[in-house]
Amino acid sequence: MVDVGNCMVTISAIKADIGGFPGHRGMHPELVKTAEKELAKALKAKLLIDYRVMACGDDLQLIMTHSKGVDCSRIHQLAWDTFVEGTKVAKKLKLYGAGQDLLKDTFSGNVKGMGPGSAEMEIEERKSEPIVVFMADKTNSGAWNFPLYKIFADPFNSIGLVIAPGVHGGFNFEVWDIEKHTKVMLHLPEDIYDLLALIGSPDKYVVKRVFNKKGEIAAVTSTDSLHEIAGEYVGKDDPVMIVRSQSQFPAFGEVIEPFSFPYLVKGWMRGSHHGPFMPVGFADATPSRFDGPPRVIAAGFQLANGRLVGPVDLFSDPSFNMAREQANVVADYLRRHGPFEPHRLGLNEMEYTTMPKVLEKLKDRFQPLKGVEAGPGKKK
Ligand code: F6R
Ligand code: MG
Ligand code: MG
Repeated sequence: MVDVGNCMVTISAIKADIGGFPGHRGMHPELVKTAEKELAKALKAKLLIDYRVMACGDDLQLIMTHSKGVDCSRIHQLAWDTFVEGTKVAKKLKLYGAGQDLLKDTFSGNVKGMGPGSAEMEIEERKSEPIVVFMADKTNSGAWNFPLYKIFADPFNSIGLVIAPGVHGGFNFEVWDIEKHTKVMLHLPEDIYDLLALIGSPDKYVVKRVFNKKGEIAAVTSTDSLHEIAGEYVGKDDPVMIVRSQSQFPAFGEVIEPFSFPYLVKGWMRGSHHGPFMPVGFADATPSRFDGPPRVIAAGFQLANGRLVGPVDLFSDPSFNMAREQANVVADYLRRHGPFEPHRLGLNEMEYTTMPKVLEKLKDRFQPLKGVEAGPGKKK
């Protein structure tokens, strides 16, 4: 183990769907084993300080610590090569969608824009450094907007914002417009309404990072949008998020509290539906009913000189039973709508699914409305 003392540590969470078992539901243990073998080699070569391989639904999650900083090409290459090795196994087992998220043939230094999702932060490890890595399946990257607002801006969620001097100053939100590829920094609490005006539309505006007023990073999310990269529907982004906790950051309980409400996210079956975000223990990250409902798991760690002490399965706790029950009730209610909105996404959002192919087939059968059919004000 490399002793990095009190210096900088980078946490990289990089994930990809390289094959589901069975269908798009879950993870085959051989893929986890293969990834562990690859990362163990990197640990031995001292490229990594530590790692954990995890799974959420059909997404393979590489949680790595190192001292190379964010966007390090050696770390990204390691993740890419690990997914390539995993894909070979997935193909051998004929797992479903083997290699699905490896959208490019050759690696070019960073997994961004290549299919996998990544969230990374470089921190100066504190005397004690509790972190939570959230992992989701069957939803998109905007799914973290709601909880990030609750954790870092809503005193009804995080009482620390009111009574803890360390967090009372508020937080700054870095918001990305993922369509226009621009970003804006909003300062909370003063910009609270501007923030909500943007991030209430999570398809376009996504919270990328949160900082405290000293400029220390508090949270980072993956914002990689699969349909933008592939130009067509290849699955949902299934994002990850890393959040620092305690002392000058919200407490663990405040960080996971937003998930006690199974808020609606986009994704679920064929990435085309609204559904409740169900917080589950690691063993239940198996979206089954109608390929869902969308799942979120939370892995708690303490860092010890970059070493990952954990994970602790934070949603494997009876206090989240009610959220799960409520999610099932909401799922049932929404399912009754079948193919009707608002269970099915609105038309604009369906453009990013397989829907355009269906409409293409009908295009020659559409006839213009004529005469009185066309109604007043229309050209005859
Ligand atoms: C959603 C997801 C699944 C698939 C569905 C159809 O993100 O992965 O709901 O969209 O199972 O999959 P294909 O088209 O591969 O048969
Ligand atoms: Mg899949
Ligand atoms: Mg997935």
